[in-house]
Amino acid sequence: HRKYVAYDTPTLPDRTWPDRVITQAPIWCSVDLRDGNQALVDPMTVPQKLMMFELLVDLGFKEIEIGFPSASQTEFDFCRQLIEEERIPADVTIQVLVQAREPLIARTFEALKGVKQAIVHVYNSTSRVQREQVFRQDMNAIRQLARQGARWVKNYAQQYPDTQWRFQYSPESFTGTELEYAISVCNAVLDVWQPSAEAKAIINLPATVEMSTPNVFADQVERVHRALAYRDAVVLSVHTHNDRGTGIAASELAVMAGADRVEGTLLGNGERTGNMDIFTMAMNLYSRGVDPELNLADVERIEQVYTTCTNLPVHPRHPYIGELVYTAFSGSHQDAIKKCLAVRQPEDPWEVAYLPIDPADLGRSYEAVIRVNSQSGKGGVAYLLEQNTGYRLPRALQVAFAQVVQQESERSAKEIHAAWITQAFHDAYSQQ
Ligand code: KIV
Ligand code: ZN
Repeated sequence: HRKYVAYDTPTLPDRTWPDRVITQAPIWCSVDLRDGNQALVDPMTVPQKLMMFELLVDLGFKEIEIGFPSASQTEFDFCRQLIEEERIPADVTIQVLVQAREPLIARTFEALKGVKQAIVHVYNSTSRVQREQVFRQDMNAIRQLARQGARWVKNYAQQYPDTQWRFQYSPESFTGTELEYAISVCNAVLDVWQPSAEAKAIINLPATVEMSTPNVFADQVERVHRALAYRDAVVLSVHTHNDRGTGIAASELAVMAGADRVEGTLLGNGERTGNMDIFTMAMNLYSRGVDPELNLADVERIEQVYTTCTNLPVHPRHPYIGELVYTAFSGSHQDAIKKCLAVRQPEDPWEVAYLPIDPADLGRSYEAVIRVNSQSGKGGVAYLLEQNTGYRLPRALQVAFAQVVQQESERSAKEIHAAWITQAFHDAYSQQ
């Protein structure tokens, strides 16, 4: 008896991706306002959606999935408001999601009336489980639905010739779909759209549910990358979720395996365990010297808009942005950081132990780096005292005074702040 089954793993004897690194940012598409929003206990109001949209534009996103206009009046109205109030910058393309159903596609084009450019993102579910248990249709019927959806999108677009349209197709539940079949569905859609190098289509591969290790997902992406028809006329996109906790790694490996574009959300909001976190992946690129082509320096604003719009907290250990990620509690870490910072010249590359990036790049300060509690050693105590008073203690005094601080932190079981350390130092030594 096997309760859980393995999913399709392609055989790629001459695979090349594990040896690569990412050398340039992928095309980013934020789905905060759609996938992120649909997963909230209280979906965003229109003012919250506007606040998030403005943030995404300011961060530099050029493609933003703003919603599912045929799904509700709020979604429809938000789309209309963006267009009628001319809030979409000329270099930003909005994207909207729709199922492969004609009335929904018709309503979607109505919502987009008058927009200068837009991506219409059509999808249907292709996995074996969905085919057999949800739709009760065979492979041919599901492929036919995808083809028909592509035709509807193309035909409705022709009724609005003043808009520059782009088309995107997702085989939803791709990770549960037999790989060669998924490729045949995507190719059937592309045959309808007949994309060209000047008018590219987007094929988006969703890990709707993350079902494998990221390397297996990347192998699947590589197989699609190699087998897709019209490959030069296609932007290959991935859309990973985080069910196994590896949504970011899956997108990173997918880019190494041939994907051109990544869909995700800020800080990983989204269905269940979330979408992949674009903020973290972008900062991963930044910290290895690759321009992420997003302006993420104002983390205070990102956190403030994120929490206001989603009503979700930011975890204190969230990579790069969490309140605790530039702190060192252990004495040996504090000592190493202090030594690296002391020898560092401003023009040197950033190589500081325990600090993968310079906190100042995200508006954080060095003052927050050294914190003292009962786990800290003499180095951290001496560092904070020097920062606060300018005193540089000889080693013997560092050892003696650290014991005073440690006693207090053990007694109170709390972090000890620089002000307490300064006062205690004066109390202990100023009379002597
Ligand atoms: O996760 C998913 O499959 C989606 C699709 C609709 C792209 O969000
Ligand atoms: Zn999704």
